[in-house]
Amino acid sequence: MSAQIISGTEIAKKIRQELKQEIAELKEKHNLIPGLTTVLVGEDPASQVYVGAKGKTCDALGVYSERHDLSVDTCEEELLALINKLNKAPRIHGILVQLPLPEHINENRVLYAIDPKKDVDGFHPVNVGKLMIGEPDYLPCTPHGIQELLIRSGVKIEGAEVVVVGRSNIVGKPIANILLQKKEGANATVTICHTRTKDMAFHTRRADILIVAAGRAKAITADMVKEGVVVIDVGVNRIGKTAEGKAILAGDVDFDAVKEKAKAISPVPGGVGPMTITMLMLNTVRAAKLSAGLA
Ligand code: GUN
Repeated sequence: MSAQIISGTEIAKKIRQELKQEIAELKEKHNLIPGLTTVLVGEDPASQVYVGAKGKTCDALGVYSERHDLSVDTCEEELLALINKLNKAPRIHGILVQLPLPEHINENRVLYAIDPKKDVDGFHPVNVGKLMIGEPDYLPCTPHGIQELLIRSGVKIEGAEVVVVGRSNIVGKPIANILLQKKEGANATVTICHTRTKDMAFHTRRADILIVAAGRAKAITADMVKEGVVVIDVGVNRIGKTAEGKAILAGDVDFDAVKEKAKAISPVPGGVGPMTITMLMLNTVRAAKLSAGLA
């Protein structure tokens, strides 16, 4: 079997077109321009790339954007003071603090300081709790992107055996929660595997839909999946460099081997990656609409 390739690049493009249209209408009819600010502490190269990409996407869609880049030795109090200021800034509807933060800063204290109404990452405990009880204001971006990839590729989620590999707060736990909801585009039976799971392959072989956020290249090999599985690969591993010094990326799934058994599979790059920023834009638009009483 040769798998259908689930192109996040294509699906993200389509959603961005829809958003661009909506953003233009908000401006025309309501004089409302969604605004997003990123906050980056330090000079981690991957984080700088992500933050840069967010700014560019804002520009392309007509979202107002600010960027606050702070030095690596910024103290927690300074960062909290900035967040307080941004919480009150009228043009800013969404605040994204790029993770990971330097070790001397308590990540949770920072995330808790963001006004839940501006928490477009969906990481504040209020938003985590709202998702848990099925009343989310904001879905976290990467898991929401995964759900959209599945829905827009025509994958039946209802009643499916979904196996998630990885239990992070950013991907594993929220995607399990989202697909468990008693809602359209969800209603799955969900299993979460992690580093202490006794027999990983026992679980992954049962999956109709396998979502992998393990953080390790080739964590999933062909013998670990069944024929006809749908695979979403969330991994981004730098496995080498080209002659020009550009990073070579690979996911967590042995793509070439697994695609021979899968019904559909998302590639790395070009799978989940483009969806994450797109869903961030969607949350920013939602934050703007909520602030104006339009949602
Ligand atoms: N670092 C890696 N993924 C994310 C994300 O989704 N949001 C933020 N804020 N930081 C990240």
